[in-house]
Amino acid sequence: MQVTPLGPVLGAAIGGVDLAGPIDAATRAALRRAFADHQVISVRDQHLDAPRLLAFCQMFGTVRPNRVRPQNYHPDQPEIYVLSSDDIDVFGRNQRIAQGDYWHTDQSYNERPAIATCLYSVETPREGGDTRFIDMYGAYDILPAALRARLEGRVAEHVLIVNEPVFGIAGAPASTSPPATAPVHHPVTRVHGETGRRALYVNPGTTVRIVGMEKAESDDLLAEIFARVIVPELEYRHRWTRNEVVMWDNRCLIHAATNEVPADQRRVMYRALIEDVAQAA
Ligand SMILES: [Fe+2]
Repeated sequence: MQVTPLGPVLGAAIGGVDLAGPIDAATRAALRRAFADHQVISVRDQHLDAPRLLAFCQMFGTVRPNRVRPQNYHPDQPEIYVLSSDDIDVFGRNQRIAQGDYWHTDQSYNERPAIATCLYSVETPREGGDTRFIDMYGAYDILPAALRARLEGRVAEHVLIVNEPVFGIAGAPASTSPPATAPVHHPVTRVHGETGRRALYVNPGTTVRIVGMEKAESDDLLAEIFARVIVPELEYRHRWTRNEVVMWDNRCLIHAATNEVPADQRRVMYRALIEDVAQAA
């Protein structure tokens, strides 16, 4: 098995493995090590059906059952969710769903967020549909010491606002829509359970406020953090190929979809969310 960095920031391409066949213990361990080291792993040219994709995901942890939009569940494997550019929004605008096209980390609005997300590209457009990632270990590391000190021991509140980020690109609060979920609290920085590295865990998509601060102070602080960390030096942008498996670590990354898929092109992905760390086997 070969592990080749995808760029200077994060991500690795895995070569020399066939995920459709039996995977021995040494290869499993090497895949998990590459995932821990690189935050995103990509395995190209894989020919997987839904059960085999599920089996790959289960090497990394327990796969979370899907709970909404059963029409999108894979018919053979309901844990696999089918994301399609053919899906039309639920707001009556008759437009393609633009899911997650702002910076966020998956399910941070849950008490127990998905630790990792796996996508498998069944159909890819000729252009568009890239996925962008920001390294949140690096984000923590580049914050000035005085700013880090203000975050020490702090907790932030997260909610889901359907199809809208809490904070806009310019950093100012963007959404005035009501949240779709009850607020949950997570530490602003967290030590990753497998790597022992500290990562920033706030994002413009779902982080509403830092608990215990006045709203104006919290808004300003979050806007300053996002302006400092959503920068090219911490970004890896993934260009998809067909039949590619990508697994990313939500504990140390934020990501954004880019949904500008041409109208005559399709993008179809299988998705699984991993909720608990696999026991070494
Ligand atoms: Fe996402």
